[in-house]
Amino acid sequence: MTYLVTDNCIKCKHTDCVEVCPVDCFYELDNMLVINPLECIDCGVCEPECPVDAILPDSALKGEEHDKWYAINETLSDKGEPIYEKKDALPDADSYDGVPNKYEQYIEKSIPIVEIE
Ligand code: SF4
Ligand code: F3S
Repeated sequence: MTYLVTDNCIKCKHTDCVEVCPVDCFYELDNMLVINPLECIDCGVCEPECPVDAILPDSALKGEEHDKWYAINETLSDKGEPIYEKKDALPDADSYDGVPNKYEQYIEKSIPIVEIE
């Protein structure tokens, strides 16, 4: 069991989540944060901290959607840098809140999902 960062973090990156994680398992990439599922202790305290509801327990995702976000979090945590302290959100965060399919639009070209499955 783990929590996962999902699509609505992309291009927003508010980073409130990192302040509360007791095991420091958030990793930062240019456009999003991810959780290392192998380090997450499933405590759940980060979920309510995200102002755009981008963090979910993996049990809330089903089938391909679960596998996709698990793979994205696991793979990108190896490519990212650990982040422990909140910083400013990305400049256009408000305008990207709720935009659908942000992974496919803004990240998949540089990090294809097929590569990480
Ligand atoms: Fe960290 Fe707990 Fe969130 Fe996992 S569920 S990322 S351990 S705060
Ligand atoms: Fe992303 Fe929400 Fe954290 S936007 S950086 S998951 S607070």
